[in-house]
Amino acid sequence: MDQLITEFDRALRTVFAPAASLRPHPDAQVAEAELSPAEKRHAAGLMRVNHCGEVCAQALYQGQALTARDPATREALRQAAQEETEHLAWTERRLQELGSHKSLLNPLWYAGSLAMGVGAGLIGDRWNLGFLAETERQVSAHLDSHLGLLPDADAKSRAVVTQMHADETAHAATAVELGAAELPAPVKTAMRAMSQVMTTLAYRV
Ligand SMILES: [Fe+2]
Ligand SMILES: [Fe+2]
Repeated sequence: MDQLITEFDRALRTVFAPAASLRPHPDAQVAEAELSPAEKRHAAGLMRVNHCGEVCAQALYQGQALTARDPATREALRQAAQEETEHLAWTERRLQELGSHKSLLNPLWYAGSLAMGVGAGLIGDRWNLGFLAETERQVSAHLDSHLGLLPDADAKSRAVVTQMHADETAHAATAVELGAAELPAPVKTAMRAMSQVMTTLAYRV
């Protein structure tokens, strides 16, 4: 019961409260560039997608930590989740700086991702970790694509996305080290299709 209350509290904070970062924000030393209104809108759309992705990451890790059987797995999940909280803080601040807002659909994506995390966890640790590794790989590839899409002048957003990309790549490697199973190809395809829907919607709202 205590754990349920703690997790519920975490859920509310993820969706509604500002996140905090222990590490300095990667763009702290980077100067704000002069962006055109169109560039600003585009950068904000991309950063909103990334923020939404981090809300989902919180929910996934939370669902998985709730169901993981092995204490070492649980601990690794907690550590990665801490970095995901920082990603949440970085993208959130960048969105504010760009004069924009978080996705209105975040509570919905949070709930869906939590259900998927719990579901993967219930199947067993190896699949739990496999799901996580594949998620991180897809997120990492996605962030890499954003480095090509962000306005050239927006060095601040680029600095944030570059560090997140490095972190997500490391998260995937950790999951593999802990014994992640390789997911069947149709599952990977379904995951990609779902994230496509999420990114399309979050860019707009
Ligand atoms: Fe992340
Ligand atoms: Fe990650």
